[in-house]
Amino acid sequence: MDKAPNPPKILAFAGSTRKDSFNKKIVKIAVEGAISAGVQTDYIDLHDFPMPLYDGDLESEKGLPENALKLKKMFLEYDGFLIATPEYNSSISGVLKNTIDWISRQATPEEEYLIPFKNKYALLISASIGAFGGIRSVMDTRNILENIGMTVLAPTKSLPKAQEAFDANGKLDAKTTEGFKQMGVVLAEFLKKLKR
Ligand code: FNR
Repeated sequence: MDKAPNPPKILAFAGSTRKDSFNKKIVKIAVEGAISAGVQTDYIDLHDFPMPLYDGDLESEKGLPENALKLKKMFLEYDGFLIATPEYNSSISGVLKNTIDWISRQATPEEEYLIPFKNKYALLISASIGAFGGIRSVMDTRNILENIGMTVLAPTKSLPKAQEAFDANGKLDAKTTEGFKQMGVVLAEFLKKLKR
């Protein structure tokens, strides 16, 4: 079969900057799944893209922070997004929301509004130490992303009681690992069909 002329690409990240973040761990497992399905998938750590809290005055004076511009540019190169969204007080983390807020802003008045998000596809997963596994954060993140132009796929997977789920080597049991890998496969297969 001929290869698609413009093969899909996935960008993966977690909405946590914590070194031992459970959300970073599960999204890395999903990345393995997406790569196994034959789609180029790149992982980034939001810790490497620090930015100030969104402030309209700061934006008016200095424009977008350098890391927001970098991320915006990067988003344009990808079709799909694998996002692990931590749950803080029943909702999205400040880090993830602040990142979305900055990159949702126009870099220039001519730039198409919300261009990093339009016609893009996301799949959301979560891990939390609570019994709900961060599903409320998935719901809120879905709502935010859909309202700014992304299509969020229906499948999702959440890991409750994450502090008990990883063994001493930082591994999940085989069934749970496979479940998170499948989330990567689902997004990859969807994008392959779309770009065929
Ligand atoms: C939390 N945590 C949490 N967990 C949960 O299941 N539901 C919740 O509403 C909250 N709320 C909350 C608020 C704040 C301010 C913090 C710091 C934490 C716990 C959270 O699941 C835990 O810290 C995870 O480890 C965060 O994700 P990462 O950093 O491991 O990816």
